[in-house]
Amino acid sequence: MTQATTLRVDLGARAYDIVVGNDLVATAGAKMAGVLAQPRTLIVTDTNVAPLYLKPLEDSLDREGIEHASMVLPAGEGTKDHEHLNQLTDWMLGQRVERSTCVVALGGGVIGDIAGFAASMVLRGIDVIQIPTSLLAQVDSSVGGKTGINSRFGKNLLGTFHQPILVLADIGTLETLPPRQLLAGYAETVKYGLIEDADFFEWMDTNGVAFCGGDREIRREAVLRACAAKAETVAEDEKETGRRALLNFGHTFGHAFEAETGYGDALLHGEAVAIGMMVATELSVLLGLCPPGDARRTRAHLEKLGLPTGIAHITKPHWTADKLIGHMMSDKKVSAKRPTFILTRGIGKAFTTQDVEAQLLHDFLRGLL
Ligand SMILES: NC(=O)c1ccc[n+]([C@@H]2O[C@H](COP(=O)([O-])OP(=O)(O)OC[C@H]3O[C@@H](n4cnc5c(N)ncnc54)[C@H](O)[C@@H]3O)[C@@H](O)[C@H]2O)c1
Ligand SMILES: [Zn+2]
Repeated sequence: MTQATTLRVDLGARAYDIVVGNDLVATAGAKMAGVLAQPRTLIVTDTNVAPLYLKPLEDSLDREGIEHASMVLPAGEGTKDHEHLNQLTDWMLGQRVERSTCVVALGGGVIGDIAGFAASMVLRGIDVIQIPTSLLAQVDSSVGGKTGINSRFGKNLLGTFHQPILVLADIGTLETLPPRQLLAGYAETVKYGLIEDADFFEWMDTNGVAFCGGDREIRREAVLRACAAKAETVAEDEKETGRRALLNFGHTFGHAFEAETGYGDALLHGEAVAIGMMVATELSVLLGLCPPGDARRTRAHLEKLGLPTGIAHITKPHWTADKLIGHMMSDKKVSAKRPTFILTRGIGKAFTTQDVEAQLLHDFLRGLL
C-alpha cells in the first residue's frame, strides 16, 4: 500500500488540506473528524458512485460517531441544472441542516460542482468536503473552490467560489473509473506539464502508459503533482484574475467543440481539452511562437495514450469557423468582446493573450475544418 501525502492550499483563513493516497474513502471518517464543526454530514453522490463507495464511506463515519444522511443524484452532466439543485437544497433543508453541518461531495466533477454550489447557498454557506472519485475531479475540479451548474445560456454560468475545508483524493477509486473517463482526466493532468512544468511533461511522457495501465504509485505521484500545481495556482490567484486563467489551456477551443457536440458522450470534456490543447499549440506554431518540434512531441504524447488530437475525431456535420468563433465569444472568459486565448511558446511555456486577429483566427479554423 502506498502512503498518503498531504498538501496545503494556502488561502489564509480558508486554507485547507488535500490528501492524496489509497483507501481514503474507507478511512475518511478519521480524516474528517478533525475538521468538522459538528459530527454531522450530508453526503451527496451519484447513481454510479453510490453502489461502489457510499457504504465504505458511511461505515468509516459510523466508526467515528459522525452522523450522516445521503442523497443519490442521477449520474451525468444533465444533473447540473436548476431542477436538481432545487431538489438538493430542499433535501438539505428537510434534513434540518444547521450552520455547522458539513456537506460531503462523493463523486466526479458533476457531484463536486452541484454539491459545492448547494453548500455555498444553504443557510448562506456551510462547509463542504470534497471526496473526488474521477481523475478529472481529483486533479482539477475538487481543488480551487469553483462550484456551479449549467444554464440554458451555457455551461457553468451559475456558480460561486466556495472553498472546501478538506479534499480526499483516493487513488484507489480510479480503478473502477471507465477507461474513457480516465483518459479524459489524463488530458487535464498532463495539461499542468504543458502549461508550466516541462519536467512534469517529461515525467508523464515516461510514465503515462504505466499510469493508464493502473500503476498505483505512478498514479499517486501524478495526481499529487497535478494537485500541487493547482493548489499553488489557486493560492496565488483564487478568483482567476491572472495566473489561474492559464489552467484554461485548451479550453477556449475545447468549449467551442463541446458546445457544438452538445456536452455529451459524443465528446467528453477532457477529450475536448486534449484536442483544444493541440489546436492552441498549432495556432502558436502558425504565429511563430512555438517551435514545431514541441507541437510534434505534444501530439505524439497524446496519441500514444489514445487521446484525440484533432477535430477529425469528432463527427461534425455542420461546423463552420463562424459557429465555432460564436461559441468562443459566449465563453465566460470573454472580456470586451475578445476571447482570451492561452497560447504557448513551447512545452511548459503557456501564456494568456487576447491578441489573436479575428481574420487570422477565422482562416486558421477554416483550415482545420
Ligand atoms: N469546479 C471546477 O473547477 C471544475 C473544473 C473542471 C471541471 N469541472 C466540471 O466537472 C464536470 C466533469 O467532471 P467528471 O469528468 O468527473 O464528470 P462526472 O462527475 O460526470 O464523472 C464521470 C463519470 O464517471 C462516473 N464515476 C465517477 N467516479 C467513478 C468511479 N470511481 N468509478 C466508476 N465511475 C465513476 C460518474 O458517475 C460519471 O458517470 C463537468 O461538469 C465540469 O464542468 C469543474
Ligand atoms: Zn477542464
